Amino acid sequence: MKTIFSGIQPSGVVTLGNYIGAMKQFIELQNHYNSYFCIVDQHAITVHQDKAKLRESIRSLAALYVAIGLDPEKATLFIQSEVPAHAQAGWMLQCVAYIGELERMTQFKDKSSGKEAVAAGLLTYPPLMAADILLYGTDLVPVGEDQKQHIELTRDLAERFNRKYNDIFTVPDVRIPKVGARIMSLADPLRKMSKSDPNQKAFITLLDEPKQIEKKIKSAVTDSEGIVKFDKVNKPGVSNLLSIYSIFTGLTIEELEAKYEGKGYGDFKGDLAQVVVDEIAPIQERYYELMESDELDRILDEGAERANRAANKMLRKMENAMGLGRKRR
Ligand code: TYM
Repeated sequence: MKTIFSGIQPSGVVTLGNYIGAMKQFIELQNHYNSYFCIVDQHAITVHQDKAKLRESIRSLAALYVAIGLDPEKATLFIQSEVPAHAQAGWMLQCVAYIGELERMTQFKDKSSGKEAVAAGLLTYPPLMAADILLYGTDLVPVGEDQKQHIELTRDLAERFNRKYNDIFTVPDVRIPKVGARIMSLADPLRKMSKSDPNQKAFITLLDEPKQIEKKIKSAVTDSEGIVKFDKVNKPGVSNLLSIYSIFTGLTIEELEAKYEGKGYGDFKGDLAQVVVDEIAPIQERYYELMESDELDRILDEGAERANRAANKMLRKMENAMGLGRKRR
């Protein structure tokens, strides 16, 4: 059976972008792959995090993974910092990566531009991400479009390591959904929806209340044409809303355009708000149950155990390939 690996940062509540671009795929994929899903808390500290909030976000993200339908019998769910091999392998891959290629990562450029004190971890984040993936012999990495460049770098590092040391790594492929790979901000449809956006109206989280969802969708930036039509270039706002609508209902864009022909944005947005609320309501119900129970700790303990077992095997191979420590069997 082939292996998939994916991770999400616990840096705020996950958005519709994270859900559509990544998490929703996990649920289907777990039936066909040996699956690892990670809460990448070590990635989150590349920018300052409040410690109490970080702890809370880690637990909350674990509950959301399970609430959307991740089955701990089928998939391994774990917290990155509870599997020390990630940081160890991350260091080794930093020694294989070049500063120039890390400086070329668009996420690094975006997050560091104009800042004076930039944490070194922001630059060396991609080799840690490569370690996450390569430790499990991953074949496929399901992510949204913004992570594509990091997966390409992961492939380069795997190939370089295999060539320089020993051929131990599987070179993973990226898997990006055909629709919804880049859900846009509701406030500025030319930018991607992000959980760290300072403007609360720019994103919807999986834990927003129905009233908030309705308000955010009603105030989503569109255009003055008043025609519900998909046109990414000239109507990025409406196109983004149409994508979300289509993904949650299974209706095609053409069917939706026909449904709203002659109607204004008011009807369209009102219906979409209901569609989003209907998708999220059962997730929230399960989420609050999980947060109250100790089921979550059991799942995470077992996940960490399984992940440690798999990751340590590969770590040993890496150490042997590089000649670190003493020879062990
Ligand atoms: P993160 O936490 O920013 O996002 C988690 C996942 O959500 C996707 N995503 C989106 N998809 C569509 N539209 C959007 N607006 C949108 N915003 C985010 C992301 O592409 C991602 O799939 N570096 C990663 C976490 C990571 C990882 C890994 C992922 C660490 N190690 C190993 C895969 C494999 C990140 O910051 O994702």
